[in-house]
Amino acid sequence: MPSLYNTIRPLLFQLPAETSHDLVINSLARINNSRRLLSLIESRFGSAVPTLPVEVMGIQFPNPIGLAAGLDKQGSCGNAFSAMGFGWVEMGTVTPEPQAGNDKPRMFRLKEHQAIINRMGFNSCGLQQFLENVVSTKPDIVKGINIGKNAKTPIEKAADDYLVCMEAVYRHADYITVNISSPNTQNLRALQNDKALDILLAAIVTKRRALADQSGKKVPLVLKIAPDLDSDQIELIASLVQIHGIDAVAATNTTIDKTTVADHPRGNENGGLSGAPVRGQSTWVITALAKALQGSVPIIGMGGIDNPADAVEKLKAGASLLQLYTGFIYKGPKLIQDIVMSLKQECNEQAFIQWLNLQHHRN
Ligand SMILES: Cc1cc2nc3c(=O)[nH]c(=O)nc-3n(C[C@H](O)[C@H](O)[C@H](O)COP(=O)(O)O)c2cc1C
Repeated sequence: MPSLYNTIRPLLFQLPAETSHDLVINSLARINNSRRLLSLIESRFGSAVPTLPVEVMGIQFPNPIGLAAGLDKQGSCGNAFSAMGFGWVEMGTVTPEPQAGNDKPRMFRLKEHQAIINRMGFNSCGLQQFLENVVSTKPDIVKGINIGKNAKTPIEKAADDYLVCMEAVYRHADYITVNISSPNTQNLRALQNDKALDILLAAIVTKRRALADQSGKKVPLVLKIAPDLDSDQIELIASLVQIHGIDAVAATNTTIDKTTVADHPRGNENGGLSGAPVRGQSTWVITALAKALQGSVPIIGMGGIDNPADAVEKLKAGASLLQLYTGFIYKGPKLIQDIVMSLKQECNEQAFIQWLNLQHHRN
């Protein structure tokens, strides 16, 4: 019998990518506050996902597979994604002020490549609305909140936007991801460069210290990086992350390298490419990062994971947690179950943690 998602997917794929995205997200946002509908989703999907707890950054994750940023940009669907079986949900990117993002169309499926190109440009409801949405997420769900800058903020003042976001989301987040790797906000990736990154990390860590003093809670900080980096840049990022005491690195965002999809009619669209074509590049970045970090800072791995073997490959490369976006669009919630079940079959819970540690010490 075809799975529920396999039945719905052809209908969704008839519509333009962003139209089906909006349709699904708006429906999930309604389901998000209905106990009855959530338990239906839970019984259909989430309950089939075994627990495989893992502790990273001092946080207990029920399983290592999370939702990557960008799907729940407005923070309105945390309960629904959790009911599908995700071990945690990363919401955002949220910007301080509401902004529309780039002109449409700005999201394209490249089915033949199991890929997406997007140039959304941080379309965001802004912090105020975002926080009103996020409070409906059940307290026991692990929440990452991914923060960015408004397009109108000059890059020299980018830190101000991140600090405003940190202050607002701090008490709602289990961890905060500082996204400096979207290719769709002008000059954002320049924040990955040595001096700019040093200044930014110093600013956010100082802010965290103040917020931790006020609240008595130290919220972990994650830095999200691009796949389009060379070994020198990766080593530099690794060293600054350690110097400043950043708690994890998320690798990677989408790539601007479209050579792998050049044969596709949409292969030249501006924006970031995700899914199968970015898989190798993301894994290469994780491997290089793990080598540079030597187990001192955990890595959240993503980029083209769409089956259990891809997940194992990322874990072996040095990731401790994994996130899905494009693979989830193509395969649906069953992908979470397939990956976690397969990891669980390989080893029991205790062995999984030991296995992760062994893998990472081997790097
Ligand atoms: C349509 C779309 C929107 C995205 N928006 C964001 C975003 O707002 N913030 C962010 O950090 N990453 C964003 N991403 C990147 C994903 O979180 C992920 O890093 C990337 O797609 C690689 O993983 P994947 O190959 O599993 O999709 C977006 C990706 C897609 C496809």
